[in-house]
Amino acid sequence: MDMFVIRGGTPLAGTVTINGAKNAALPIMAAALASSGPSVLQDVPDLVDVRTLCKLLSELGMNVNRDASGDLRLEVVDDRPHAADYELVRTMRASVCVLGPLLARRGRACISLPGGCNIGDRPIDLHLKGLAALGADIRVERGYVIAEAGRLRGARIYLGGPFGSTVTGTCNIMVAAALARGKTTIESAACEPEVVDLGNYLNNMGARISGLGTPFLEIDGVEELTGTTHRIVPDRIEAATLMIAAAVTNGDVELKNVRSQHLTAVLEKLSEIGVKIANVGENRLRITTSGELRAADCIALPYPGIPTDVQAQLMSLLACTPGISVITDKVFPDRFMHAAELARMGAMIRREGPSAIINGAGQLSGAAVMASDLRASAALVIAGLSAQGDSAIRRIYHLDRGYERLERKLRQLGAHIERVEDRADTFPHSLRLDQPQTAAELTGPHWSHPIANTTSQKRSA
Ligand code: EPU
Repeated sequence: MDMFVIRGGTPLAGTVTINGAKNAALPIMAAALASSGPSVLQDVPDLVDVRTLCKLLSELGMNVNRDASGDLRLEVVDDRPHAADYELVRTMRASVCVLGPLLARRGRACISLPGGCNIGDRPIDLHLKGLAALGADIRVERGYVIAEAGRLRGARIYLGGPFGSTVTGTCNIMVAAALARGKTTIESAACEPEVVDLGNYLNNMGARISGLGTPFLEIDGVEELTGTTHRIVPDRIEAATLMIAAAVTNGDVELKNVRSQHLTAVLEKLSEIGVKIANVGENRLRITTSGELRAADCIALPYPGIPTDVQAQLMSLLACTPGISVITDKVFPDRFMHAAELARMGAMIRREGPSAIINGAGQLSGAAVMASDLRASAALVIAGLSAQGDSAIRRIYHLDRGYERLERKLRQLGAHIERVEDRADTFPHSLRLDQPQTAAELTGPHWSHPIANTTSQKRSA
């Protein structure tokens, strides 16, 4: 298992390019199952979730190849398989995206129910309700969803749930309805740019979907979807992660391949905190800070609100920004596993239901911490980059699911970050309790955080 060892305190500086979005690439790759021709997908990030889905799609009868230029070529060569096994689905919830395409094209899908995960309950009742409305016969047996249908037929579907719409649910229903007989309307559809990207991909293959980017979609079913060539929309979550990393280290970073129109809520919030963001060309943003950052309240909401996938990273930023901030997650109200790990670095965070109250310290202190999920890992990396001293971020396999070699990009920007195998002999010396450390070394010249002071007193006692 790998871990990151980070020496904090270096301002990030330089230019990096943002990849295509994981959360657009995955449903688009799955949607290729519903087409009858080959697709070429450009800018698909090379990350663990993409590789897992490639494996699943191969098992489902697709030829999947990445060519020398990095393009992903997908073509159905056998349309008989229809089952997605627990062993793959349990490692990646986005596997559920094959449900709609399989049902629409092959009339049958048998998908392991994904179960819960570290960011909270993740039911798929809305996916199933939508597919049932399109005429599918659905039952759950031995942990699997078994869905069967002749030709699906258009219907009126409401996709609102207790926490807003559903992103991958909208994707599943959109693909299924694209091949249904007649017209489907989806109300309370997810408006995320990744859903729009899938809609554009389907339309390029002959689908007739209108209203993309709004909560009201109209879909006129067609007989067949052909293949196409499609470039994946830039990853707004990777962009936000790097912006926050730049801000927390007082850096000066330029990001290429960013769609600022997909990040309005994040850019507004970062400006309120005191981060300077300038448009410096087409799809290019420059991130700098000047002077003190300010505490702020943030609410994660469905698009176009602040994404839940950026909530953890914002928490790291606010944990080292003096003042009281409140972060509320209205999409995944239990997504706070990172808070306890940030506390190991000296952050003062109190959880109150779907909110976390953060008493921002001036600076965090490096520590060994454990990543619990993808975005929590990114938050811990951000905290490590800003902290005083060394940090060891363990279980970064979570991070590898959704960021393509994040450490390379950060090193390109001057960060001191290494990927090493997590072993006793690679663990940073400075974090070992048996290493002689003076109180001055532990507290540092400008370190005045009460938790850290308590720790240093205990250690030197
Ligand atoms: N929900 C239901 N019923 C459903 C589906 C969802 O109640 O049938 C609830 C969920 O429990 C949650 C809310 O609705 O409270 C939103 O869930 P959604 O279905 O939109 O999430 P998802 O489609 O499973 C995608 C992303 C997540 C991202 C969420 C929210 C992909 C592959 N995953 O998940 O990304 O957090 O939308 O924006 O697109 C990540 O990249 O780290 C990640 C977790």
